[in-house]
Amino acid sequence: MNTRVLTGITTTGTPHLGNYVGAIRPAVAASQRDDVDAFYFMADYHALIKSDDAARIERSRLEIAATWLAAGLDPARVTFYRQSDVPEIPELTWFLTCIASKGMLNRAHAYKAAVDKNTAAGEDVDAGVTAGLYMYPVLMAADILAFDAHQVPVGRDQIQHIEMARDLGQRFNHLHGHEFFVLPEALIEEQVATLPGLDGRKMSKSYDNTIPLFAGGKKQLRETIMRIVTDSRLPGEPKNPDDCALFTIFRAFATDIETAAFRQALLEGLGWGEAKQVLYERVETDVAPMRERYEALMADPAAIEKILQQGAQKARAVATPKLASLREVLGLRTMHTAAMSTASSKAPAKQGKGARFASFRDADGSFRFRLFSAEGEELLLSKSFADPKAAGALQKQIKTLGATAAVLQVQSQGMTLELEGEAVATTPDYRDEQARNEALQTLRDALDQLAAQD
Ligand code: TRP
Repeated sequence: MNTRVLTGITTTGTPHLGNYVGAIRPAVAASQRDDVDAFYFMADYHALIKSDDAARIERSRLEIAATWLAAGLDPARVTFYRQSDVPEIPELTWFLTCIASKGMLNRAHAYKAAVDKNTAAGEDVDAGVTAGLYMYPVLMAADILAFDAHQVPVGRDQIQHIEMARDLGQRFNHLHGHEFFVLPEALIEEQVATLPGLDGRKMSKSYDNTIPLFAGGKKQLRETIMRIVTDSRLPGEPKNPDDCALFTIFRAFATDIETAAFRQALLEGLGWGEAKQVLYERVETDVAPMRERYEALMADPAAIEKILQQGAQKARAVATPKLASLREVLGLRTMHTAAMSTASSKAPAKQGKGARFASFRDADGSFRFRLFSAEGEELLLSKSFADPKAAGALQKQIKTLGATAAVLQVQSQGMTLELEGEAVATTPDYRDEQARNEALQTLRDALDQLAAQD
């Protein structure tokens, strides 16, 4: 089975070298592996928590999409989409909100930092804190759990959020007696975790010390690199490569051999001005071809939009059935399936991991029932009976049947269950043969589960 790797990028800024080295480049590399099923998305709902500047968010979405594509992301291979194009994410956010403990959210770093700041300033603890900031980890958990991601590559500052996603997934699984969600793990790339910025601190927009990746072209790249802070050693004096941002940035782009040569040159007294020129040229070698693609993409936003729409479709092909099964277990089924299910109205989870029947009365007054898998997938719809007892008797028969004894006639789109040569129930129609075969397996499992119950 492939590992599903999922990560989100908040769309508030313009990508810089730190983003490229720390997130984009490793993510693109991972997406090219055959054993990885990559889901990468723009967290534009998260952006709304941080910024109410619509123009900035809009620009950032475009720039980030173009950057990832220019950096080599293949949208045919990965699922690349915008959070705001997947309505199942906010829907799941609410389901998770209803089981999230407030105490857990009180402990979230970002919220706690705001509280601490307010406390220090003698303000009300929650001054200026939106419910959006408070709920940030739940939205993020929904991003991850909706797609059953196994691994989530993130920076260290996000580890707590992944733990909360696990916590929420586990809580839901436990409450409803079934493994609805895969529990995700944070993936921290030790080697590339952080790039220093102009002043030597972590390169970050909030420190205003970033080197832009594409913005401003190569001129801007060079000028910014020339502003990297160094010590005051003169040309000819040996420099300490292990204590300078310049060298660390160089190493992030260069091969081992290039790095060793640069180290040697610094030790031998290469002047800072020249060293910066070497760094600029090395970075530009990698960035130039990407910048060309980036500019072409930026000039054609409609093409990017199309790619993202296709990505959303792929993402929803996973999330829509997932949310449908969650609605089932939460008691949000359609009325006609829920109506007469008195005998089986106990939540399926509380009965254990089994398949279950749900009886109902058709519009014409007749009695019918459906069979659902433990996950809430509809498997069978019975024929109509004038007499509820006859419907009940058929349920009993099906219950004792088991998969081996069941006669299932396979048609092009669906299947029919036969008892003594008579069709008594049908499956829904399936999209294709593969879906039908999967459903057949689920149905056989369900029949076995029923036979094993009581
Ligand atoms: N909070 C993440 C960040 O700021 C972005 C993000 C949102 C994310 N949803 C996600 C990352 C889901 C991984 C998975 O970096």
